[in-house]
Amino acid sequence: MDVRTDVTLPAEGYRLEIDPSGVRLHVADAAGEFYGRQTLRQLIGPDAFRAASIHRGQQTIPCGVVTDHPRFGWRGCLLDVARHFRTKAEVLRFIDLLAAHKLNVLNLHLTDDQGWRIEIPEFPKLTEVGGWRKSSMVGRHDGPERDGRPHGGFYPTDDLREIVAYAAARSVTVVPEVDIPGHARAAIAAYPELGPETGEPWEVWTSWGISTSLLNTKKSTLDFFKAVFDHVLDIFPSEVIALGGDEVPGATEEHGRFVREIARHLVERGRRPLGWDEVLEAGDLPPMVIGSWQSEAAGARAVAAGHDVVMCPEDHVYLDHRQSDHVDEPIPVGYLRTLESFYGYEPVPADFPSGKTILGTQAQVWSEHLDTVRRVDYAAFPRLCAFAEVAWSSPEGRDYAEFLPRLRDHHLPRLDALGVEYRPLDGPLPWQTRPGVPGRPR
Ligand code: ACM
Repeated sequence: MDVRTDVTLPAEGYRLEIDPSGVRLHVADAAGEFYGRQTLRQLIGPDAFRAASIHRGQQTIPCGVVTDHPRFGWRGCLLDVARHFRTKAEVLRFIDLLAAHKLNVLNLHLTDDQGWRIEIPEFPKLTEVGGWRKSSMVGRHDGPERDGRPHGGFYPTDDLREIVAYAAARSVTVVPEVDIPGHARAAIAAYPELGPETGEPWEVWTSWGISTSLLNTKKSTLDFFKAVFDHVLDIFPSEVIALGGDEVPGATEEHGRFVREIARHLVERGRRPLGWDEVLEAGDLPPMVIGSWQSEAAGARAVAAGHDVVMCPEDHVYLDHRQSDHVDEPIPVGYLRTLESFYGYEPVPADFPSGKTILGTQAQVWSEHLDTVRRVDYAAFPRLCAFAEVAWSSPEGRDYAEFLPRLRDHHLPRLDALGVEYRPLDGPLPWQTRPGVPGRPR
């Protein structure tokens, strides 16, 4: 294939020209070349998505010209590897799937109350102790059910460097997240001096939900997390680094200061902090990226305060939430968000301040109820395919009735070729159900 750079094309854009004389790809940049090649792969047919070619004889590609570029520069997906650890191979595969859908940000949620997944050589107990829990909840977050089976795992530094490089080769930026000052119980289990000064012992949490175990705001705790983030910066070249900041029950002014200090620490090192929208309460923050998850209105408040915003409202784009009201839907939690509602999602709210823009949008795969990669496949696909189109293309003419047969007849065969265990359009396969495991629908 003849590949040429064309600086007149918009960022990440390409023009793919196919005629009987050959295939030419004009690209804005490396990402544009990657996406042009993905489009060519789509045109070749589902077998182009297999791990190796099974083709015999001559191959034909339809002639035509595709000129394309994305609507948003941030087309993200969060993967929570803290509640349930995903192996390195599973993370690499997930990156492949994001890239095949022209998504370009993996927000890797590395730490939480239920597990600490990033090796920090200076503080080995974070993974030796914080990387493991005794048992896990089965289903709903407020019930008594536990599986009685230890769970854990973590990524050594070199595995994370490999994940970053693998993603970069596919035009995906890995945005690491270390969640402070709440959602940090695994760290407190490892180093109790980081935790509340009440002195009670905290262990890596065996429940889902929001733990009251907040970091204390001592200078030594702040210094500890500055050192943690310095190691994160050494591994992850991403300009944006996520510090969490969500769900801090009983947050004090001191917790706000703690978030502010970590945010400034990142800015001093040339990065841009990303925080969930609760951090807006802290005030006096350096310019940040705000993940607007509690509501769409939070995004408007964020831009009014001078921040950039990624729209990821939980009542629209949480992939762990249930896909149907069918009795067989496995562990139904959260809002009902069907394939159609994902396709109908518009990232820029109608009442968004005029003249302001958003960086983009991000779907979220929280994993309390997704204990295997097969469960992640089921939750994410095919809704993530619909989301990818929302994040890439302009909303004019978007029509679910047009999308659905295109998905069914052309894209699901690609997912089959990739070996993705998606949710069939008419409901779960028998082995995808979880009879008797209680959910928590909203
Ligand atoms: C979040 O869902 N707690 C960001």
